[in-house]
Amino acid sequence: MALTQSGSTRDHWSSRSAFILAAIGSAVGLGNLWRFPAEAGANGGGAFVLFYIGCVILIGLPVLLSETLIGRHGQASAPESVRRVASASRASSHWDILASVGVLSAFLILSFYCVVGGWVLYYVGVFFADIFQSGLSGGAFAGQSAEHIEGLFPEMIGSAAWTVGLDALFLGITLFFVARGVSGGIEIVAKWLMPAFFILLVAITIYGMFGGAFTQTMSYLFTFEPEKLTGEVMLAAVGQAFFSLSLGVAGMVTYGSYVGRNVNLASTSAIIASADTAVALLAGLCIFPIVFSAGLAAGAGPGLLFESLPHAFQEMPGGALIGLAFFIMVGFAALTSSVALLEVPTAWVIDRFRIVRPLSAILVASGAMVLGALAAMSTNTLADWHPLNFIPIFEGQGFFDVLDGLTAKFFMPIGAILTAIFVGWVADRKLIDMENGIGGLLHLTWLFLVRFLCPVALLAIMVVGIFPDLLA
Ligand code: TRP
Repeated sequence: MALTQSGSTRDHWSSRSAFILAAIGSAVGLGNLWRFPAEAGANGGGAFVLFYIGCVILIGLPVLLSETLIGRHGQASAPESVRRVASASRASSHWDILASVGVLSAFLILSFYCVVGGWVLYYVGVFFADIFQSGLSGGAFAGQSAEHIEGLFPEMIGSAAWTVGLDALFLGITLFFVARGVSGGIEIVAKWLMPAFFILLVAITIYGMFGGAFTQTMSYLFTFEPEKLTGEVMLAAVGQAFFSLSLGVAGMVTYGSYVGRNVNLASTSAIIASADTAVALLAGLCIFPIVFSAGLAAGAGPGLLFESLPHAFQEMPGGALIGLAFFIMVGFAALTSSVALLEVPTAWVIDRFRIVRPLSAILVASGAMVLGALAAMSTNTLADWHPLNFIPIFEGQGFFDVLDGLTAKFFMPIGAILTAIFVGWVADRKLIDMENGIGGLLHLTWLFLVRFLCPVALLAIMVVGIFPDLLA
């Protein structure tokens, strides 16, 4: 606890490394483990992966630095931080809209993210129970048919009791840590879970290397075939880079606001972006060898993690234990992200209504539970409810997909474009120079990217995301 602001003490990260771990924890999540391999597989491997890395460096990193910079200067919840930077720059306080959009989208993402977190908990339970049946040495699901294993996922998401119950459980765990605050709660999750997560990921990857399909995976992920780089693949890669780095939803503004003056934001942002990318690549190197050596397809999409992998664990010696370790690891990663997602609106409620932290967190979580329950039921009871059927790109989609689409196609890009314009064009140059911690050519490059490349590239994603026919 340090620093006084508006008469109250504002909690801070206890050290630079605590901030780095928490920010990496926020970035690394289902986006890296579930979405990245699925997107890479669905978009043809190498071309997607290499373009993705380019997006992280040229678009993700500059916006990441912009977000943390606003937060650190503002030392308040996201909208208030933006107002403070605006007032120091003699600009309109209405720029806070960029953060308000962010707070809203963090809330929406939280609602469906915890549903997927619940699915992960389900598999933790499945593999845990299976250890007692299959033992530690053989594969998982001893003596069970392929149909049975493939049926696990549809059966679970088909039951409202399971999906809503597990959503509530995952949200409840998230709430517990956020209610305890920054240095006493969020930081503890990050400090313990992130290292545990890295160790498990590296261990399972090394294990997979000996499974035989490692060279096949390397060439799949890193062979650049230019003809595969279509417009659609590029857009998928930019979108994934954004989701994975937690950008465009004021998340990094919020985490940046707990950073002390002595931290160099540019080098810290570079560490966060590199770690997030390294984990995504490791996730690919971890998951594809398992999938390939079981003779399964790489392009299974969202089902890759929940349907193909459990299947692969059946073939593997020690499969039940490795499966359990794997899903616990995914759960850890998801938790450090959901904690960040809940923190964004909670920090806003604390600032805006002057309500104490635990109560603010409970209020936000209750709202997320209502939306989350509707999302959780969109694979079962409410499967026929298509809330935005009248809008072409949402036609036929259930509530879960609508939440996902609204945030990915509208709110996140809008939030990020506004952030780039605000920091690049509106904010006072002296303030920016003081906060960003870089000089010379690097500073000019960053300014160029934030001013020109980021807004233009992001606008392009939005347009093509909304009118997919343009690329056809
Ligand atoms: N980056 C997270 C992941 O990869 C998901 C995410 C998107 C997120 N936006 C966020 C997390 C904002 C925290 C804050 O799973």
